[in-house]
Amino acid sequence: MEVITRRDADQAVELVARLLEMRIRAKPESVLGLATGRTMEKVYEQLAATGVSFAKCSSFNLDEYIGIPTDDPNSYRTYMQEHLFSKVDIDVANTFVPDGAASDLKAAARAYEDRIKAVGGIDVQLLGIGEAGHIGFNEPLSSLMSRTRDKALTPTTRMQNAGMFGGDPERVPKRALTMGVGTILDARELILLATGPAKANIIARAVEGPITSMVSASAIQLHPNCKVVVDEAAAAELQGRAYYDFVFANEPEWAEFRD
Ligand code: GLP
Repeated sequence: MEVITRRDADQAVELVARLLEMRIRAKPESVLGLATGRTMEKVYEQLAATGVSFAKCSSFNLDEYIGIPTDDPNSYRTYMQEHLFSKVDIDVANTFVPDGAASDLKAAARAYEDRIKAVGGIDVQLLGIGEAGHIGFNEPLSSLMSRTRDKALTPTTRMQNAGMFGGDPERVPKRALTMGVGTILDARELILLATGPAKANIIARAVEGPITSMVSASAIQLHPNCKVVVDEAAAAELQGRAYYDFVFANEPEWAEFRD
């Protein structure tokens, strides 16, 4: 794992958008694993502004709410449409979001896994982190070997996402269909982005704490090719900063991002 700390959220976002752009330019037929949440909005804005072509890309989103229609303003399909798909030349037929509106969720979950396998797996998976330590919607106690399935959301998560539902956590759906931790770990590269002081504690637990199903994001420690990009505020509780900064300052890969 590499931990890259940027001065502020804008710089962290810029680095992640640039990494994704580079991955797509290097492999135009990339299979992208995409994430939602407020943190990612600017990443997609900047990525779209690079003008890189998504014509040959396909994409798989981490998760979707259960119990709201696909075209609901708060669905993650709508989010992706708004923030990325409508702004780039991706073929919408090649974009996949778990079908939280399916009548048979188990079948939908299986079909999602099969589809990922059929395209040869995910090249690069973008991740955010929830305040309860989830990646995707893998709430505490999610098996580190879990696959796509439906999962009950924690009160913390429903509270964190209430802003999108008129500020009322009761209006946030109770369940979601999410890639499993095992599904996420199968991606060939992981890029986790977190910004702001609210993420400082959970970032320290995910990066430096024990690997535990209580913090599903800690499973990224098992991944051989994982980058964690944070701003100063989200890095505030990391113990190993001096070493992480030293690596960032010396690796040729990061030359273009150094001040
Ligand atoms: C939701 C998503 C997660 C995302 C998290 C972070 O819960 N299911 O995949 O990581 O939000 O959200 P934000 O960026 O708004 O803090």
